Amino acid sequence: MQTEASGLTHRLAKEADLPALREVMELAISELQKPYLSPAEIEASRGSMGVDTQLVKDGTYFMVTDVASGRLAGCGGWSRRATLYGGDHSTPLRDENLLVPGRDAARVRAMYTHPDFTRRGIGRLILSLGEAAAKAEGFLSVELGATVAGIPLYKACGYQVIEETLAPPVNGLRIPVVRMGKAL
Ligand SMILES: CC(C)(COP(=O)(O)OP(=O)(O)OC[C@H]1O[C@@H](n2cnc3c(N)ncnc32)[C@H](O)[C@@H]1OP(=O)(O)O)[C@@H](O)C(=O)NCCC(=O)NCCS
Repeated sequence: MQTEASGLTHRLAKEADLPALREVMELAISELQKPYLSPAEIEASRGSMGVDTQLVKDGTYFMVTDVASGRLAGCGGWSRRATLYGGDHSTPLRDENLLVPGRDAARVRAMYTHPDFTRRGIGRLILSLGEAAAKAEGFLSVELGATVAGIPLYKACGYQVIEETLAPPVNGLRIPVVRMGKAL
Protein backbone atom coordinates (compact mmCIF):
# COMPACT_ATOMS: atom_id res chain seq x y z
CA MET A 1 0.00 0.00 0.00
CA GLN A 2 1.32 3.48 -0.90
CA THR A 3 0.95 6.62 1.15
CA GLU A 4 1.04 9.35 -1.50
CA ALA A 5 1.96 12.19 0.85
CA SER A 6 5.00 10.47 2.35
CA GLY A 7 6.35 8.81 -0.80
CA LEU A 8 6.54 5.53 1.10
CA THR A 9 4.98 2.18 0.41
CA HIS A 10 4.67 -0.83 2.70
CA ARG A 11 3.97 -4.55 2.56
CA LEU A 12 4.50 -7.68 4.63
CA ALA A 13 8.06 -9.05 4.41
CA LYS A 14 8.76 -12.44 2.79
CA GLU A 15 11.64 -14.83 3.40
CA ALA A 16 13.29 -13.62 0.17
CA ASP A 17 13.51 -10.16 1.78
CA LEU A 18 15.65 -11.35 4.70
CA PRO A 19 19.06 -10.34 3.25
CA ALA A 20 17.85 -6.77 2.58
CA LEU A 21 16.24 -6.60 6.03
CA ARG A 22 19.49 -7.72 7.66
CA GLU A 23 21.37 -4.95 5.85
CA VAL A 24 19.04 -2.22 7.13
CA MET A 25 19.12 -3.64 10.66
CA GLU A 26 22.90 -3.71 10.65
CA LEU A 27 23.09 -0.04 9.62
CA ALA A 28 20.44 1.02 12.14
CA ILE A 29 22.15 -0.87 14.97
CA SER A 30 25.62 0.45 14.22
CA GLU A 31 24.76 4.06 13.29
CA LEU A 32 21.59 5.10 15.10
CA GLN A 33 22.61 3.93 18.55
CA LYS A 34 25.79 6.05 18.53
CA PRO A 35 24.25 8.99 20.44
CA TYR A 36 23.11 6.63 23.21
CA LEU A 37 25.64 3.81 23.63
CA SER A 38 29.43 3.41 23.64
CA PRO A 39 31.02 1.33 20.81
CA ALA A 40 31.41 -1.60 23.23
CA GLU A 41 27.74 -1.32 24.26
CA ILE A 42 26.65 -1.21 20.61
CA GLU A 43 28.64 -4.38 20.01
CA ALA A 44 26.96 -5.96 23.06
CA SER A 45 23.53 -4.84 21.82
CA ARG A 46 23.88 -7.19 18.86
CA GLY A 47 23.28 -10.04 21.30
CA SER A 48 19.68 -8.94 21.75
CA MET A 49 18.89 -7.26 18.41
CA GLY A 50 18.53 -8.41 14.80
CA VAL A 51 16.33 -10.44 12.53
CA ASP A 52 13.63 -12.73 13.93
CA THR A 53 12.63 -14.93 11.03
CA GLN A 54 9.60 -16.21 12.96
CA LEU A 55 7.95 -12.80 12.53
CA VAL A 56 8.36 -13.07 8.76
CA LYS A 57 6.99 -16.63 8.76
CA ASP A 58 4.04 -15.48 10.88
CA GLY A 59 3.19 -12.67 8.45
CA THR A 60 3.53 -10.02 11.15
CA TYR A 61 6.63 -8.20 9.87
CA PHE A 62 6.39 -5.10 7.67
CA MET A 63 8.84 -3.43 5.36
CA VAL A 64 8.66 0.14 4.12
CA THR A 65 10.13 1.18 0.76
CA ASP A 66 10.92 4.65 -0.56
CA VAL A 67 8.91 4.83 -3.78
CA ALA A 68 11.19 7.28 -5.62
CA SER A 69 14.41 5.31 -5.11
CA GLY A 70 13.02 1.83 -4.54
CA ARG A 71 15.26 1.50 -1.48
CA LEU A 72 14.26 -0.36 1.66
CA ALA A 73 13.77 2.43 4.21
CA GLY A 74 12.70 0.58 7.33
CA CYS A 75 11.15 -2.48 8.89
CA GLY A 76 9.39 -3.62 12.03
CA GLY A 77 6.40 -5.53 13.18
CA TRP A 78 4.31 -7.09 15.87
CA SER A 79 3.88 -10.58 17.29
CA ARG A 80 1.31 -12.90 18.77
CA ARG A 81 4.18 -14.86 20.37
CA ALA A 82 5.69 -14.31 23.82
CA THR A 83 9.28 -13.34 22.85
CA LEU A 84 9.58 -9.69 23.97
CA TYR A 85 12.71 -8.79 22.02
CA GLY A 86 15.79 -10.33 20.40
CA GLY A 87 16.82 -11.97 17.14
CA ASP A 88 17.01 -15.59 16.02
CA HIS A 89 20.33 -15.94 17.85
CA SER A 90 19.10 -14.49 21.19
CA THR A 91 18.36 -17.95 22.58
CA PRO A 92 17.79 -17.08 26.27
CA LEU A 93 15.22 -14.45 25.29
CA ARG A 94 13.11 -16.58 23.00
CA ASP A 95 9.67 -17.90 23.88
CA GLU A 96 7.61 -18.81 20.85
CA ASN A 97 4.48 -19.72 22.82
CA LEU A 98 1.37 -18.06 21.47
CA LEU A 99 -0.13 -15.23 23.52
CA VAL A 100 -3.83 -15.17 24.37
CA PRO A 101 -5.75 -12.17 22.95
CA GLY A 102 -7.72 -10.37 25.65
CA ARG A 103 -5.46 -11.77 28.38
CA ASP A 104 -1.89 -11.11 27.21
CA ALA A 105 -0.31 -8.06 25.57
CA ALA A 106 0.73 -8.53 21.94
CA ARG A 107 4.32 -7.59 21.18
CA VAL A 108 5.84 -4.83 19.05
CA ARG A 109 9.04 -6.20 17.54
CA ALA A 110 12.29 -5.41 15.75
CA MET A 111 11.86 -1.78 14.68
CA TYR A 112 14.67 -0.50 12.42
CA THR A 113 14.87 2.52 10.12
CA HIS A 114 17.66 2.98 7.55
CA PRO A 115 19.85 5.92 8.71
CA ASP A 116 19.12 7.76 5.43
CA PHE A 117 15.38 7.71 6.16
CA THR A 118 15.01 8.62 9.85
CA ARG A 119 12.45 11.13 11.11
CA ARG A 120 10.15 10.61 8.13
CA GLY A 121 7.51 8.78 10.10
CA ILE A 122 8.52 5.21 9.20
CA GLY A 123 8.69 4.04 12.82
CA ARG A 124 5.36 5.69 13.56
CA LEU A 125 3.79 4.10 10.44
CA ILE A 126 4.97 0.59 11.34
CA LEU A 127 3.77 0.96 14.93
CA SER A 128 0.31 1.97 13.74
CA LEU A 129 0.18 -0.97 11.30
CA GLY A 130 1.19 -3.44 14.02
CA GLU A 131 -1.16 -2.00 16.61
CA ALA A 132 -4.09 -2.17 14.16
CA ALA A 133 -3.30 -5.79 13.24
CA ALA A 134 -2.97 -6.83 16.92
CA LYS A 135 -6.24 -5.09 17.77
CA ALA A 136 -7.99 -6.84 14.87
CA GLU A 137 -6.96 -10.20 16.44
CA GLY A 138 -8.50 -9.20 19.77
CA PHE A 139 -5.45 -7.97 21.69
CA LEU A 140 -6.23 -5.14 24.10
CA SER A 141 -2.68 -3.95 24.68
CA VAL A 142 0.87 -4.15 23.29
CA GLU A 143 4.25 -4.35 25.02
CA LEU A 144 7.86 -4.16 23.83
CA GLY A 145 11.45 -4.16 25.03
CA ALA A 146 12.92 -0.79 24.03
CA THR A 147 16.56 -0.01 23.43
CA VAL A 148 17.58 3.46 24.63
CA ALA A 149 17.55 4.58 20.96
CA GLY A 150 13.95 3.42 20.58
CA ILE A 151 12.48 5.14 23.63
CA PRO A 152 11.80 8.58 22.02
CA LEU A 153 9.77 6.94 19.23
CA TYR A 154 7.69 4.85 21.63
CA LYS A 155 7.06 7.76 24.01
CA ALA A 156 5.97 9.91 21.04
CA CYS A 157 3.52 7.15 20.10
CA GLY A 158 1.90 6.86 23.54
CA TYR A 159 3.88 4.03 25.15
CA GLN A 160 4.59 4.19 28.88
CA VAL A 161 7.47 2.73 30.84
CA ILE A 162 6.59 -0.48 32.72
CA GLU A 163 10.01 -1.63 33.92
CA GLU A 164 13.69 -0.85 33.41
CA THR A 165 15.68 -4.03 32.76
CA LEU A 166 19.05 -5.17 31.38
CA ALA A 167 19.63 -7.50 28.44
CA PRO A 168 21.61 -10.71 29.06
CA PRO A 169 25.39 -10.01 29.24
CA VAL A 170 27.57 -9.98 26.11
CA ASN A 171 31.33 -9.60 26.73
CA GLY A 172 30.44 -8.69 30.32
CA LEU A 173 28.19 -5.79 29.23
CA ARG A 174 24.45 -5.59 29.78
CA ILE A 175 22.63 -2.93 27.76
CA PRO A 176 19.48 -1.27 29.15
CA VAL A 177 16.15 -2.53 27.82
CA VAL A 178 13.00 -0.76 28.94
CA ARG A 179 9.74 -2.66 28.96
CA MET A 180 7.04 -0.32 27.66
CA GLY A 181 3.37 -0.74 26.91
CA LYS A 182 0.23 0.84 25.51
CA ALA A 183 -3.49 0.07 25.64
CA LEU A 184 -5.11 -0.43 22.22
C1 LIG B 1 13.96 3.95 16.74
C2 LIG B 1 13.84 4.10 15.24
C3 LIG B 1 13.18 2.84 14.64
C4 LIG B 1 12.97 5.34 14.93
O1 LIG B 1 12.69 5.36 13.55
P1 LIG B 1 12.15 6.62 12.72
O2 LIG B 1 11.57 6.07 11.46
O3 LIG B 1 13.22 7.64 12.57
O4 LIG B 1 11.00 7.23 13.63
P2 LIG B 1 9.83 8.27 13.19
O5 LIG B 1 10.30 9.12 12.07
O6 LIG B 1 8.56 7.51 12.96
O7 LIG B 1 9.68 9.14 14.52
C5 LIG B 1 8.40 9.44 15.09
C6 LIG B 1 8.62 10.33 16.30
O8 LIG B 1 9.40 9.63 17.29
C7 LIG B 1 10.29 10.56 17.93
N1 LIG B 1 11.68 10.23 17.58
C8 LIG B 1 12.10 9.27 16.72
N2 LIG B 1 13.45 9.22 16.68
C9 LIG B 1 13.90 10.17 17.52
C10 LIG B 1 15.20 10.61 17.91
N3 LIG B 1 16.31 10.05 17.42
N4 LIG B 1 15.28 11.64 18.80
C11 LIG B 1 14.18 12.20 19.30
N5 LIG B 1 12.90 11.83 18.98
C12 LIG B 1 12.78 10.82 18.10
C13 LIG B 1 9.92 11.94 17.40
O9 LIG B 1 8.88 12.46 18.22
C14 LIG B 1 9.39 11.59 16.01
O10 LIG B 1 8.51 12.57 15.50
P3 LIG B 1 9.11 13.87 14.74
O11 LIG B 1 10.19 13.40 13.79
O12 LIG B 1 7.91 14.46 14.07
O13 LIG B 1 9.68 14.75 15.84
C15 LIG B 1 15.25 4.30 14.58
O14 LIG B 1 15.87 5.41 15.20
C16 LIG B 1 16.19 3.12 14.69
O15 LIG B 1 16.20 2.25 13.83
N6 LIG B 1 17.04 3.08 15.76
C17 LIG B 1 18.10 2.07 15.90
C18 LIG B 1 17.53 0.68 16.14
C19 LIG B 1 16.72 0.66 17.40
O16 LIG B 1 17.21 0.98 18.47
N7 LIG B 1 15.45 0.29 17.25
C20 LIG B 1 14.52 0.19 18.35
C21 LIG B 1 14.55 -1.20 18.88
S1 LIG B 1 13.53 -1.28 20.34
